[in-house]
Amino acid sequence: MQLFIITGTSQGLGLSLAERALKEGFTVISIGRKCPVQNADHTFIQHDLASPDQLKEKLNTALSKLKEKNFTAIHLINNAAVVTPVGHIESFSWTDISSHMNVNLLMPIYLTSLFLEATKAWDCQKVIANLSSGAAVRPIDGWAMYCTSKSGLKMFTDCLSGEKKDVKTLNFNPGVMDTNMQSTIREQDEGNFSRVSEFRELKEQNRLAPTDKVAMCLIKLLREHDQIQKNWYDVKELTT
Ligand SMILES: NC(=O)c1ccc[n+]([C@@H]2O[C@H](COP(=O)([O-])OP(=O)(O)OC[C@H]3O[C@@H](n4cnc5c(N)ncnc54)[C@H](OP(=O)(O)O)[C@@H]3O)[C@@H](O)[C@H]2O)c1
Repeated sequence: MQLFIITGTSQGLGLSLAERALKEGFTVISIGRKCPVQNADHTFIQHDLASPDQLKEKLNTALSKLKEKNFTAIHLINNAAVVTPVGHIESFSWTDISSHMNVNLLMPIYLTSLFLEATKAWDCQKVIANLSSGAAVRPIDGWAMYCTSKSGLKMFTDCLSGEKKDVKTLNFNPGVMDTNMQSTIREQDEGNFSRVSEFRELKEQNRLAPTDKVAMCLIKLLREHDQIQKNWYDVKELTT
């Protein structure tokens, strides 16, 4: 039996990951503002991931109820993220900047800390997967916040891999997917995001992957965690 803790399961890839893990008979803890999943093996922690308040207590309570299950592996998937604010840096307010960084960068770091501390005594394989992007490794005009947060998260993951030899730690690039994040990107003004037409074409040409396919690839990689040998995986190199 394996346990998956997944952030941002209201929609998009996070929802597909929760559904896939449950379909395969695993136990899931979801963390986010809302979640449509109803299943006996599913625990929902309602939480705004822009804030740390009481998250420790909520996570510890959920984990303490599952402690006796003797999982062979427990996974933390830091999936929740936002792409906004998009545009010129001088137009971003402190709230825009801090809220983006809280969700995309500080929360995955904080959750990793809570996860490692809460499960210190659990005798099983621990796996931490952080959702990455091509934006983590190359600058994109108008996406300074998203590139910076994803690049920071990649560096954090790489540091963690060096520090925690007994924990499997990886960055996972899901590629472009047909989600609300892509709708938000397509809605941008060309003045704010010079490459917007490329992203509109991706949708018109049906080149956005369905999230259930991507979720199958990631859950397969994680459930067969003995095979994880590096800390960067791209969906293109995986099979379902
Ligand atoms: N879509 C792509 O093409 C693409 C490409 C490369 C990488 N990625 C990465 O893949 C991951 C999943 O993306 P996606 O496309 O599935 O995104 P999405 O459809 O926009 O879903 C994002 C999820 O994050 C949650 N979230 C955002 N802010 C939150 C907050 N303050 N508190 C709680 N939950 C919050 C959302 O919940 P609410 O519904 O409550 O807002 C939602 O469940 C992200 O890490 C993204 O950066 C996506």
